[in-house]
Amino acid sequence: MARDRSTYRCQECGYAGAKPGTCPDCARTGHYLALVEERPVAVRGERGRPRGAPPAERARPLGDVVIEDGERFTTGMRELDRVLGGGVVRGSLVLIGGDPGIGKSTLLLQSSRALAERSGPVLYVSGEESAGQVKLRADRLGGTAPELFFAAENDLGVIEAHLAEVAPRVLVVDSIQTVFMPEVESAPGSVSQVRECGARLMRLAKSRGVAIFIVGHVTKEGTIAGPRVLEHLVDTVLYFEGERHHAYRVLRAVKNRFGSTNEIGVFEMGDGGLVEVRNPSSFFLAERPRGAPGSAIVATLEGTRPMLLEVQALVAPASFGTPRRTVLGADYNRVCLLLAVLEKRVGLPLQSQDAFVNVAGGGRIAEPAADLGAALAAASSYLDRPIAPDVIVIGEVGLTGEVRGVTGLAQRLREAAALGFATAVIPQSGLAAAAGCGIEVHGVATVEDAVKLLLGT
Ligand code: TYD
Ligand code: MG
Repeated sequence: MARDRSTYRCQECGYAGAKPGTCPDCARTGHYLALVEERPVAVRGERGRPRGAPPAERARPLGDVVIEDGERFTTGMRELDRVLGGGVVRGSLVLIGGDPGIGKSTLLLQSSRALAERSGPVLYVSGEESAGQVKLRADRLGGTAPELFFAAENDLGVIEAHLAEVAPRVLVVDSIQTVFMPEVESAPGSVSQVRECGARLMRLAKSRGVAIFIVGHVTKEGTIAGPRVLEHLVDTVLYFEGERHHAYRVLRAVKNRFGSTNEIGVFEMGDGGLVEVRNPSSFFLAERPRGAPGSAIVATLEGTRPMLLEVQALVAPASFGTPRRTVLGADYNRVCLLLAVLEKRVGLPLQSQDAFVNVAGGGRIAEPAADLGAALAAASSYLDRPIAPDVIVIGEVGLTGEVRGVTGLAQRLREAAALGFATAVIPQSGLAAAAGCGIEVHGVATVEDAVKLLLGT
């Protein structure tokens, strides 16, 4: 297929059209973005084989495929291994996305060093920082390793030459927005550069059997073209998340051809770089106030990993007009719903109150199992009565004020028991599943029951 005409591509969503103008897809959402011209790529020919040529490798029964030893190797960072599904897979292409400044380079530099120490040569290529800058950072992170190689380079052709020379087991490209192929006539970071470079790196990974990590910056507005267009191409997509002003960082798998996407890795950013957090619950609960009104401990589940978090609420009389609702670390609408349930089903007059809800330590609750805890934190603050410090609260809240069952109840309870919690308030329907978890459980059918039980109204 000969493509000799330019296409015009939206740098926001990847839409491609035959004519210049604005992007029709983005226009629907009220954004008028100019399409950018993309010339046909000269190198396309090398990609295909002549029609009818015999295949290089015959199709064979899947049962005959032998999985070679050493297909997977450890990165030396347990939390990273865990998210990758038990280590790095040879020949895999892994994208690590995240906001600028969140710590992607730090994570990869640290794991590159650990990898170079245990598994052989690692080549770290940066298009963003000079060798001096990276060396300074490495020194701060505890030194380098003899088999950790570095090149400051943007041209993918030159990176390939380095790859041939060093023959590493792992290549890191930091970042995909800064590398380019001279054959592709658009600026580094544009959709077509990112896509072509990604595809080229994928072929390199497969043909050389080298595991490749690529860094991709994403901003909250999604203004930088990039990781999104790569997601369907690469084997694994990890997102590195966290609040910039909190030390806590989560590495989350959103796609993984070699493992589950349920796993998360937890890190803490400190002066010496990222430190793995083996027990996130105790990390989040370290500074919690005991016996203060407005605090409730909830048990969330991230994939298979239970995590205890503290939800705090401050409910105070509104000075005028519409009361304020401010929510950090939880879904705003969900919290408003819970406040309405407290008003209507429990009879707490929150309409006249400002309410601020926050998950302590920069944590985030994204599942309904934390509903009951959030509702109780708000009720506790309004009533100015503390919840006993050794109690955790689990349950989804419905609009009629009913407390509904949650998944993975036993796992959540075991985590709580392991951290020394004595009592759990859980959905009535979960009582059978809760047996033998080493913690005293109280089943509640409604939010009102829970408020009565814990706040004694
Ligand atoms: P970086 O890895 O450069 O982020 P990214 O590659 O995702 O853009 O991390 C930058 C931030 O991390 C920077 O604001 C400083 C902070 N940081 C530390 O707090 N401690 C450290 O040891 C290092 C290396 C960085
Ligand atoms: Mg960086």
